[in-house]
Order: sequence, then C-alpha cells, then structure tokens
Amino acid sequence: MTLHTSRLDPPAKQGPQEAEQRIIIRGGKPLYGQVRCFGAKNSVLKMMAAALLAKDVTILRNVPDLTDVHMMADILRHLGAKVEVKNNEVHIDATNLTETEAPYELVSHLRASFVVLGPLLARCHEARVSLPGGCAIGERRIDLHEKGLKALGAEIGIDHGYVHASCTKLVGSHILLDKPSNGATENIMLAAALAEGTTIIENAAQDPEIVNLADCVNALGGKVSGAGTYQIVIEGVRPDEMHGAVIDTIPDRVEAGTFLYAAMAAGGEIAIDGVNVHHIYAVISKINEMGAECSMYAPDTIKIKVNERLKATDITTVPYPGFPTDLQAPFMAVLASAEGTSIVTETIYENRFMHVGELRRMGADIQLKANSAIVKGVPKLMGAEVKSSDLRAAAALIIAGLGAEGVTEVTGLHHLDRGYDKLEDRLKSLGADIYRR
Ligand code: EPU
Repeated sequence: MTLHTSRLDPPAKQGPQEAEQRIIIRGGKPLYGQVRCFGAKNSVLKMMAAALLAKDVTILRNVPDLTDVHMMADILRHLGAKVEVKNNEVHIDATNLTETEAPYELVSHLRASFVVLGPLLARCHEARVSLPGGCAIGERRIDLHEKGLKALGAEIGIDHGYVHASCTKLVGSHILLDKPSNGATENIMLAAALAEGTTIIENAAQDPEIVNLADCVNALGGKVSGAGTYQIVIEGVRPDEMHGAVIDTIPDRVEAGTFLYAAMAAGGEIAIDGVNVHHIYAVISKINEMGAECSMYAPDTIKIKVNERLKATDITTVPYPGFPTDLQAPFMAVLASAEGTSIVTETIYENRFMHVGELRRMGADIQLKANSAIVKGVPKLMGAEVKSSDLRAAAALIIAGLGAEGVTEVTGLHHLDRGYDKLEDRLKSLGADIYRR
C-alpha cells in the first residue's frame, strides 16, 4: 500500500519538534477582485467510490487538491485500483480489484470513504469496511446505510469495528429513508446500480452532489433517474454494461459560500467564478436579507458588494435546499459582528458549535441554548490565537480573522486542508493580508 504524502498531510505525520503550521491574518483589509471556485469535495469523493463499479478507467475532472482526495485515492489503491491524482484530475483504473476490505487506518481519516461499501458489495458481493466512528461534530450513525443495503438483499454484520456486508446477489427494492441522509442515499444508489431490477429510494437526499453522483453512475453505464428530488429510481444493469467515462465535478457550493462570507466580514466587492448560483440560493437570500448586495453576474459568476455594517438574521440548518449545516460556522463568523441579535439553530449535527468558544476568544458575544446559538453582534471582533476543531470551524475562524481588528493566528490547519485547496492564497489574491507559516 502506498500512502500519499504531501504538504497537506495531517500533523500526526510531522516530526515531534516541527512547529504546527498556522495561518496569520491581519484583519480589516477589504477584499476586491475575482476568484475561482473549485470542484466540490463532497462530490468528487463519492464519484471516486463510484468508479469501483466499472472494470475500466474513470476520469474525474475539476478535482481540487485536498488531503481527503489523496486519502480516498489511497483507499482505492488499497482495493487494487490504479489511481493517479494530477492536474486537477483523478484517473481511476478499477479493472482489477484485489481486496474487499477498507481498513481502519485509512477509513478513520475520512468518513466519506464509508461510501465504498455500496459499490464494493455490488461488484464483489462482499465488502468489509471499517466503521468510521463518531467525529467531532456529531455521532454520525450508519443505520440508514445498513437498512438500505439489507433491503437490497445484503447480509450485514458488525464485528471488531468493521461492517461486513455480503450477498449472493442484490435485488432492487423500495426503500424509505427515515431522514434524507446523503451517505445512505449514495451507498444505496451505488449498490443498486448493479442490482437485479429496480430500486426506489424515497425521502432521498436532494443535494447537488447526489445529482453529480447520479450523473456519474449514468456516464459509467448505469440507469439512475430522479436525483435531485425526494425519489430516486435506479434500474440495475449488468456489470458488463458498465464502462469508463469522463465526468466533471460540480462547483463546491460550500467554498462559494465561504468566499461570500469572507467578503461580508472584510467588506469590499468580489466576483466568484465557476459557481452554480442555483445551488446556493438559500445562502444568497440570507446575504441579501442582511443588507449586502449579492447577485448573479453571469451564468456561473456571482458578485457581492458590502459597504455598510450588516444586519442580524436567523438561520436554521436543514437538508438541501435549505440552509446548509456546512456553512453554519462560517456564517456565524459573519453574524458575530452584525448589527443586532441572530439566532442560529443547528438541526443536522448534535455538536457543531465548537467554533463558538474560539469566536468568543475573538470578542464574540454568543450564548448556547440547546441546539441554538444566540449571537449578539459586536461592532468589531478582535484578533486572537484560535484553534480549529473541524473543517468548517477552520473556515469560520479565518473569516472572523479577516474582519477582526489586529492579528489572528489560526491553528489546526489539517482540518482546513481536508476541504479547501489553497484557501489562503486565493484570499490573498483578493487583497487579504494573510499567509501560512
Ligand atoms: N444519519 C443517521 N443515520 C444514518 C446516516 C446519517 O442518523 O445512517 C444522520 C447523521 O448522524 C447526521 C444526519 O443524518 O446527523 C446527516 O447525515 P448525512 O448522512 O446526510 O451526512 P454525511 O453523508 O455523513 C455529508 C457531508 C457532510 C455534510 C452532510 C450533510 C460528505 C463527505 N460529507 O455527510 O459534510 O455535513 O452530508 O449535508 O459528503 C463537511 O463537508 O464539512 C461535512 C461534514
């Protein structure tokens, strides 16, 4: 097994005396100019898993350079696929799979890797994938994945920290998800792609990344319809009907939101290219409610202009197309200095408020009450040394630092590098005083 090493690897692999990297921001510089949004992490990782369905070469384009992508590549290599990650593309040759087990040391770094369970089961009739475990933001159960795969005819057992799935064949079924889980929708869709007959997933996740994955399966020879709605229909095909394909990754809507919030915190006027405006409607409508000017400028470009203090607003995170949980922390960094009181309610994860303590260190006035945060906007945040607890918390602290008075130093960057490709360089190109040391 070859483990990829790059500047992005988590600090666990650094020497003990090596100083932890940090991003240093001198706040208060407005942002101006144009920036490009890269491909969606949460799409590309699942499409990499989908490539296991075809005994052929799948090429994914518009792929960001993220630790998560390299980790997923390592998992596919471990399973026997040949994988090359370069020039914003991933080439996966899954002609020969030699392993059906995805071990703990690989899966534990990357929850998204659990989605190899469905395609491995469909193709090899057997899969053993380490349970990803809980994570900082919440318990993140897998009961719906299990229920869906069982309905297709798989036997599922959990032993020694692994999920073991096996079947003699998979047969299409009618599956109702208790909640619209992205991961469960993906695992079931990928397993059902090679099942005998038709599978219907009711109350499916409707996220754009699900549509991208369905398009990917179809490009590989599968037959999926209805993705993007609550009901997805998958007509199983024979394994020999699957073939290689070239698929583009959709723009990362969370990254687009992150740049919009950066401009809201710092002020100024920026254009973001490579965006699908329809994917961030909930984000844009809140921005306009707060008094910033945000609108579509060209089919894939959005502009934002901020020249006054923004007004408070309330948000509740809900499944797509509502306000995304992945932008809750970055948005709170903006609300922290808005005029008035905002209420932020998190309904997807039990523990996605770990950024609150760090924002308080920067002078934010935030009280937690059950699954809500009451954010009383202060005129200005103050720079401080802060530590990120997860990927989106890292983005939130950088956004807070851009608008704060004085210097902010953000550590815990291995979280950031999982999901943002050179974020600080792109913010710098917009005029931010930011660097990594
Ligand atoms: N859930 C269950 N049972 C299940 C599956 C999920 O109860 O079998 C619960 C989870 O515990 C969670 C909720 O349902 O509370 C939503 O989970 P979902 O399955 O939709 O999330 P996921 O597929 O594990 C993806 C993204 C997350 C994003 C969520 C929600 C990837 C790699 N991850 O996770 O992204 O927050 O959907 O939109 O696609 C991030 O990018 O920072 C991130 C955490």
